[in-house]
Amino acid sequence: MSNDTLRNIGPIVLLGPPGAGKGTQAKRIVAKFQIPQISTGDLLRDNVARHTPLGMQAKAVMERGDLVSDDLVEEMVAERLQRDDARRGFILDGFPRTVEQAIWLDGFLKHGIFDNQKSKKAKSGDMAPIVIRMDVDYNKLKLRLTGRRTCPACGRIYNVHSQPASVDEACDVDGAKLVIRDDDREEVIQERLATYDRLTRPVADYYERKRRLFVVNGDRPLDQVTEEIFREILRHSAPVEGR
Ligand code: AP5
Repeated sequence: MSNDTLRNIGPIVLLGPPGAGKGTQAKRIVAKFQIPQISTGDLLRDNVARHTPLGMQAKAVMERGDLVSDDLVEEMVAERLQRDDARRGFILDGFPRTVEQAIWLDGFLKHGIFDNQKSKKAKSGDMAPIVIRMDVDYNKLKLRLTGRRTCPACGRIYNVHSQPASVDEACDVDGAKLVIRDDDREEVIQERLATYDRLTRPVADYYERKRRLFVVNGDRPLDQVTEEIFREILRHSAPVEGR
């Protein structure tokens, strides 16, 4: 086991507009620190694919580029966070996305059903998330989103411009045919970016006021962005008790 998998990482929140690289960087954090990625977008898309009651409510909202209601998403996140694999820490990718969700998360981490996850760090009152926002130029975001391809089997993310698959339109890992996300159409992208400006930018202000916001320039090669994020995570994490 590496030293990194023996650390209490705690909650990590990845903020940033659609296409900023949250999902891409989350997968790299998973690989290094062995904590789960909790992507509300992926969880919702899974519900849509399985035609669950939640998925049926979320489908039309997501296709328009709007946000699913706070209470539905919060309930889904609460259920996911209580699983054992989140004990050493977890990455929230795409959550919180409204100030209401951020306030809910603070309450959940402080008083919620989180007692089984308390480490020495938590007992000293610090279950506050590390909040990392990735900033990317607006026009580049559009290019990234229209060029994105995803593997439906393993979730690996590609880009026809910057990270193409080795064999055209097939996943390097499992050979599955890559897909374009339903909401990566030009008109929906526009709406998602507007929704981000209206409802999610204030979330960064909320965390900045609490001095928890760390801003990364996401407009650089992948490895450089990753390196800066890892450095920040290591600065905030603690060795597991008794090690
Ligand atoms: P969600 O799935 O969370 O989508 P999003 O926030 O719009 O973010 P994306 O997944 O589009 O982008 P990303 O930042 O992960 O970028 P990626 O790494 O893929 O949400 C979808 C919908 O679900 C929402 O619109 C909403 O309806 C609903 N929803 C989700 N959460 C919700 C919540 N909390 N409350 C209410 N509703 C919610 O990268 C993008 C592309 O760029 C890729 O092709 C990648 O290869 C490329 N790329 C990444 N980094 C770089 C780099 N450094 N250089 C060059 N290319 C790069």
